[in-house]
Amino acid sequence: MLILGLESSCDETAAALVAGDGCVVAHRLAGQEAAHAPYGGVVPEIAARAHADALEPLIRAALADAGVTLRDIDAVAATAGPGLIGGVMVGLVTGKALAHAAGKPLLAVNHLEGHALSPRLAYRMEGRDLPFPYLLLLVSGGHCQLLVVDGVGRYRRLATTIDDAAGEAFDKTAKLLGLGFPGGPAVERAAAEGDARAVPLPRPLVGSGEPHFSFAGLKSAVARAAGHYPPADLAASFQRAVIDCLVDRTRLALDRAGPVGALVVAGGVAANAGVRAALEELAAARGLAFAAPPGWLCTDNAAMIAWAGAERLAAGLTDPLDVPARPRWPLDPAAEPVRGAGVKA
Ligand code: KG4
Ligand code: ZN
Repeated sequence: MLILGLESSCDETAAALVAGDGCVVAHRLAGQEAAHAPYGGVVPEIAARAHADALEPLIRAALADAGVTLRDIDAVAATAGPGLIGGVMVGLVTGKALAHAAGKPLLAVNHLEGHALSPRLAYRMEGRDLPFPYLLLLVSGGHCQLLVVDGVGRYRRLATTIDDAAGEAFDKTAKLLGLGFPGGPAVERAAAEGDARAVPLPRPLVGSGEPHFSFAGLKSAVARAAGHYPPADLAASFQRAVIDCLVDRTRLALDRAGPVGALVVAGGVAANAGVRAALEELAAARGLAFAAPPGWLCTDNAAMIAWAGAERLAAGLTDPLDVPARPRWPLDPAAEPVRGAGVKA
């Protein structure tokens, strides 16, 4: 079984071919950093146009890398949301056209499901299985959630952020410290040179009875401290505060998750070595397996979309060609919005 995956929900255009056994046969990606850098963040209209320009050549390149044609694939998986709607529509319409032309099933994949199932692909790449259920910490530029993954399409949200996402906090801190965009990797590099105890910063919601997240206050504290401390010390102290929040909230969620076999972290912030190490320690203390995809599979990519498509196809969950693109699309439709956090659902 061979799945073509397409991703275009934010500022990464990507196409990949993934086999049902977890072999990533080809993956191509084009970032848009240079196009958005002058604005200090992603501009939706620029992103949509860049996706429209980049996607077809990437698909051709991925097919050529694999030495196959559209006739050889078994299904087309495209991100159908959540994300910037212009970009999502570019990828989804392209996926629909290819599926229709090739007479193959379409899989309209929730981008968050791509992240959520990516650790299973990472395990499969190593010849291992990551069984359900597991607790997932999903930390990206747009999302910060704790979910129990009971199976394909079966997600129970235990917590979300009441303001910023963790990756957003990294991006805003990088901007404040003049470290550039995207911020996560820049903050991590600067933090490696700094003292994490140098700047006293808050740990919002740590110790609170619900495992939700909040990062807006931390960002404001960094803004107040900026200029009074070396940037490297600020970066290190900020990163330490985020890690403390993530670990504390995840610990509480583990208490409430019911039986799970593993602690899993996914999304762009999971590429951070300090975040991974702290969560691995928590998993070990609880006697749980730990899974985090390799860096290239943590940040946005099409291999995770193709893999989620493969898992959905195996479960018989294909989609009609009139399936809509969705700017918002919670993984757990039953989850209640929390105070001020509707937009993060
Ligand atoms: O999953 P992703 O590529 O896109 C979204 O779906 O949002 O995540 C991007 C986010 C950005 O906020 C970026 O700054 C953050 O992940 N990120 C990191 C690191 N690499 C990427 N944050 C901390 N440390 C990193 N090494
Ligand atoms: Zn993402």
